[in-house]
Amino acid sequence: MQDADLIDRLPFERLAASDFQQIRDLAYRSFGLDLKPGKEELVSARLQKLVRSGGFQSYQAYCRHVLHDRSGESLMALIDALATNHTSFLREADHFDFLRRRVAPVLARRAGVEVWSAACSTGEEIWTLAFVLRDALPTSRIQLLGTDISRKALASARRATYEAARVQVLPKPWLTSYLDADGNPPLSYTVKASIRAQAVFQRLNLIEPLPWNKQFPVIFCRNVMIYFDRATQQRVIASLAANLEPGGYLFVGHAESFSGIDHRLEYVQPAIYRRPVGRKGGLWNE
Ligand SMILES: C[S@@+](CC[C@H](N)C(=O)[O-])C[C@H]1O[C@@H](n2cnc3c(N)ncnc32)[C@H](O)[C@@H]1O
Repeated sequence: MQDADLIDRLPFERLAASDFQQIRDLAYRSFGLDLKPGKEELVSARLQKLVRSGGFQSYQAYCRHVLHDRSGESLMALIDALATNHTSFLREADHFDFLRRRVAPVLARRAGVEVWSAACSTGEEIWTLAFVLRDALPTSRIQLLGTDISRKALASARRATYEAARVQVLPKPWLTSYLDADGNPPLSYTVKASIRAQAVFQRLNLIEPLPWNKQFPVIFCRNVMIYFDRATQQRVIASLAANLEPGGYLFVGHAESFSGIDHRLEYVQPAIYRRPVGRKGGLWNE
């Protein structure tokens, strides 16, 4: 039996209410995660490995360590363990269809296009975006910015290698044109180097002020605000909207409603919003 398996089988104390409260406060303050009461089991399952492998005798000792670790490393590991990284290629496919039909033809008239996948997780979303845009314009004109709070997720996104089963949802022409098969028969696929070269990945916490003031024509920020409370959602949406160019589109997850949120974006269709074009319309004169 491996050491890690052995560690997992050792009996461990339950997460006390006070420990849960401490982790809850920490997660909320550091990355906006709103852990509702009732999530104790989920939290203890996700942190157990970290607590055991760090040699801590209790969750309390572990919490104390995270709070006092000035390097920030333990907090990063806690975030990596608590964040839900679930994602997939072509997730919420109607968004990519909208992008292909309504947005890509307009962007194809431009000399350069930079799109942002905020909370890109392990990269499936940003690469799907890249493939849709690549069908409409040359790779060299596309720039991709992928950000996430999780370093672990970002490392996978950069690597851009996915098990064969994960890419099976992609249309065959994409599989052959935009990915390299690894092995024969292929056990995994890697996004082609020319497409990877157009992407920049950066660690970014959406609840903090953004380190830039850019104007993107397209921002995907999907399935992350669902973990935030209303006040945090309000702030994040305002900051995303400020980073959209007039006429630019914001795509959010279908489970993420803007109801009760004060914003200046136009509703386009479910989970798609747009910054008003303005009188001149500029490049968005469709
Ligand atoms: C469920 S995944 C969504 C991935 C992708 N956008 C999608 O819809 O398939 C949520 C991602 O949000 C990231 N995340 C959570 N809190 C964040 C924050 N405060 N700032 C930036 N990213 C965050 C997590 O690390 C995770 O990778």
